[in-house]
Amino acid sequence: MAGCSRTASASVLLLFFLFGFSAAKELLVGGKINAWKIPSSEADSLNQWAEKSRFKVGDHLVWKYDGGKDSVLQVNKEDYANCNTSKPIEEYNDGNTKVKLDRPGPFYFISGAKGHCEKGQKLIVVVMSPKQRYTGVSPAPSPAELEEGPAAAPTSAVSVLQSGLVPALGLLAICVGFLI
Ligand SMILES: *[C@@H]1O[C@H](CO)[C@@H](O)[C@H](O)[C@H]1NC(C)=O
Repeated sequence: MAGCSRTASASVLLLFFLFGFSAAKELLVGGKINAWKIPSSEADSLNQWAEKSRFKVGDHLVWKYDGGKDSVLQVNKEDYANCNTSKPIEEYNDGNTKVKLDRPGPFYFISGAKGHCEKGQKLIVVVMSPKQRYTGVSPAPSPAELEEGPAAAPTSAVSVLQSGLVPALGLLAICVGFLI
């Protein structure tokens, strides 16, 4: 029975690692340097990029742009829709802006450069609620995700853990069978 409880706790630990812990990533907005600009077409827009990406609580968005010419404004939904740059929630113009996605839900960003937002330089990022991670739906990692040293490593650890999940759950089921 001791063996069984050990297996059970190992399985719980495994589930915790799979679902509770998931590596935070840094996502380069637009997938490349200097993507923070007026899009040349609808297909080139940052929202097209955002729709293909996956954002989790704890991830960071990173913008690389010329801080002398442009800025990143985090705004509310209304100011996003109206391209109103007068009262942003946050304003960044350092050319290397990093914003932590610290809650689920939508984040709205517009360019602070005059007339740019109206021409489509804007971005909505919708961060998944932690619950959504439990569905097990896991799209292929986006190429836009920055493969940065230590941040990238835990991803492969997760796939290693995933391969161990089925046998572990099997053992757990056997243990539960014994207990009943
Ligand atoms: C922009 O927002 C400010 C403050 O929220 C508001 O006073 C102003 O009327 C808005 N401007 C436009 C053009 O919507």
